[in-house]
Amino acid sequence: MSENSMRIDKFLANANVGSRSDVKKLIKKKLVIVNETLVSDASYKVDALKDDIRVNGEVITLRTSPSYYVMNKRSGVVTAKKDHLHKTVMDDLHIDIREQLFPVGRLDKDTEGLLLLTSDGDFAHRLTSPKHDVEKEYAVGLDALPLEGELLRIEEGLELKDGSRTKPAKITLSEHPDYTLHITITEGKYHQVKRMFGAIGRKVERLKRVRIGALQLDEHLATGEYRELTTEEVEQLQ
Ligand code: URA
Repeated sequence: MSENSMRIDKFLANANVGSRSDVKKLIKKKLVIVNETLVSDASYKVDALKDDIRVNGEVITLRTSPSYYVMNKRSGVVTAKKDHLHKTVMDDLHIDIREQLFPVGRLDKDTEGLLLLTSDGDFAHRLTSPKHDVEKEYAVGLDALPLEGELLRIEEGLELKDGSRTKPAKITLSEHPDYTLHITITEGKYHQVKRMFGAIGRKVERLKRVRIGALQLDEHLATGEYRELTTEEVEQLQ
C-alpha cells in the first residue's frame, strides 16, 4: 500500500473540509467522489497525492507548504477566523485552503486595506511583533487638519490615555482627496492610529492600511479581493 494511502474521512478532515462527522454527512449526501467513483463508506482508502478527490465538484488537496495571501480588506468585516455576530475576512476568502489560513495582525471592522493571511505562524509573528519594527503605513482621513506641533507630538511618540507610550512615527500629507495624511508606525496596539490622533483631539473618520514593510497595497485589488503573494514578496516580507 502506498505511504500516501489513508481513509477518505481522515484525508478530508486533514484538508480542513470538516470534522470526521461532517465528512460522514457529506458522504451520505453523495457529495464525495474519488476518481469519478461515488464514495459510500468513510473508510474508503485514497492516495492523498495521486487520486482525484472531489467534494461537491470541488477538487480537494492537502497543502503541506505554507500559503501566503494578501487581501484588500473591506469595511464591515471583522479580522478574525470566526465571529458569532459579524461577517469575518474569512467569509470573503473563497479558496479550498481557507481553513488553514489566519489573518496576520488585526484591522478594525471599519478599516480597509492591506491584510495578510497565512498558514505560517512564524511569518505572522515576525510581522506583528513590535521587536521587529516592521513598518505599517496607513492613509488617515481626519475630521480636521492638526496643527504642526500636534503632528510633531505624534511623530516623537506620545502618551495614550491608558498611560502607554507610542514609538516614534512618520507623517506625510496625503495627496488623495479622501485622506488627510499618511502615518507610518512600527507597532500595532489596539486601535493604535485612532488613539494616537485621539490623544491630540482629532477623530479618525477613514482608515486604510496601504503598506506593510516593502509590500504596497495593490491598486488593482478592489476592496474585498485577494491574491496569493509571489515568492519574491514573501521573501521580502521575511
Ligand atoms: N489603528 C487603528 O486604530 N485601527 C486599525 O484598524 C489599524 C490601526
